[in-house]
Amino acid sequence: MAKVRFSYVCQECGALSAQWAGQCTSCAAWNTLQALADTAPRSGRQRTQQQGFSGVLSPVHTLENVPFSEEQRRSSGMTELDRVLGGGLVEGSVVLIGGDPGIGKSTLLLQSMTHLALQEKALYITGEESLAQVAMRARRLELPLGQLQVMAEVSVEAILEVAQQHKPTVMVIDSIQTVFTEQVQAAAGGVSQLRESTALLTRFAKQQGVSLILVGHVTKEGALAGPRVLEHMVDAVLYFEGEQDSRYRMIRAVKNRFGAVNELGIFAMTDRGLKEVANPSAIFLSRFPVPIAGSLVMVTREGSRPLLVEIQALVDQSGGNGTLRRVAVGLDANRLGMLLAVLHRHAGVSCAGQDVFINAVGGVKVVETGADLAVLLAVVSSLKGRALAHDLIVFGEVGLSGEIRPVANGQERLREARKHGFTRAIVPKANAPRSPIAGLEILPVMTLQEALGQI
Ligand code: TYD
Ligand code: MG
Repeated sequence: MAKVRFSYVCQECGALSAQWAGQCTSCAAWNTLQALADTAPRSGRQRTQQQGFSGVLSPVHTLENVPFSEEQRRSSGMTELDRVLGGGLVEGSVVLIGGDPGIGKSTLLLQSMTHLALQEKALYITGEESLAQVAMRARRLELPLGQLQVMAEVSVEAILEVAQQHKPTVMVIDSIQTVFTEQVQAAAGGVSQLRESTALLTRFAKQQGVSLILVGHVTKEGALAGPRVLEHMVDAVLYFEGEQDSRYRMIRAVKNRFGAVNELGIFAMTDRGLKEVANPSAIFLSRFPVPIAGSLVMVTREGSRPLLVEIQALVDQSGGNGTLRRVAVGLDANRLGMLLAVLHRHAGVSCAGQDVFINAVGGVKVVETGADLAVLLAVVSSLKGRALAHDLIVFGEVGLSGEIRPVANGQERLREARKHGFTRAIVPKANAPRSPIAGLEILPVMTLQEALGQI
């Protein structure tokens, strides 16, 4: 069979196609297809069915005979970043850090690299800011200036040349969208350039055992420009979360070949740069002095730490043009629709004719289903215009038949809530602790109806 040649690539989603079209068949974006620059086949390793393979064949092993050495990790200079990385930077690994412009990627890496440079040989390459700007920021943040090597460069070939000479153990490229390689005749930032530049840099990192950190900007739609292209080429992908106007910045791993992907690193943006928040459990509470309708605190768990998060709901008469709005910020909007259906069907509370908005305070994303019960109780509270008790904490997953399912690490969540002064907890029956927790009244529930009865 003839091999299909892909000649075009979507600048939005990275999908390949053989022919040009006005609309991408994969993500449906318009006018995003661009000609893929020709990358000539590399010499030596060509194989065709007729000729066989000429060259050195790779050895085949059983797993137990594969030689390996324990991965070497080095601290990134910041504990919260190490936590997300699964214990530090791995030798010869490539990490992509993505986030909105201005969220703090450069600040984080400058802070971390200046500290790391005290122990390791680190090279920070900036393609966006001038060296003077970088130096000025480092000075203002009172970072150690003596060790980190910096370079302003956008040519991949030049970067590799310098890296060959200086032999850094950690290298940062800020950002991957600004660099370009001469091997591709396309503008910097396009998918062809991104792909080829990343491939060259990655190959170098693996060969030399350099830990490489790539900064990537996120487009408005929330995806890294050319996301698919980069995500599968690197070992770990970390995303910055948080709202520009909120103090807190979260870093979440969405892919990590060397660690768990559920850890969250938490920082606060201050006038002196990013500060690590070592004990973040109560930062996502807006806690009004008096109880207000539609607000409720839940305990979620991010990686190894429990977090108290305030869930807010606003239920309001719909504008009446026939479309009901179901908006979720920091929570799953599709799940909200499902939860409202359960609420109607199994507890008889209807939100028909009402717009429903829910929000997790502080720009945090709650990805676990343990938020279900808190969402529904907040919705009911807003719908009825009645505030819930101030000292109440809630968690639990809501099933399609209105049952309340347990969540992992219930005891730990309850103890954390107690520590922060909560005195009552509505929790799934299976999460009720066997021995009582002093000062915390447990209200175990099995169904949504029982939970509503409790409030
Ligand atoms: P930056 O690291 O330049 O963002 P990115 O590299 O992700 O585009 O972050 C810049 C933002 O951070 C800017 O809006 C100002 C804010 N900031 C502070 O609030 N305090 C500080 O000490 C610094 C350095 C930046
Ligand atoms: Mg930047």
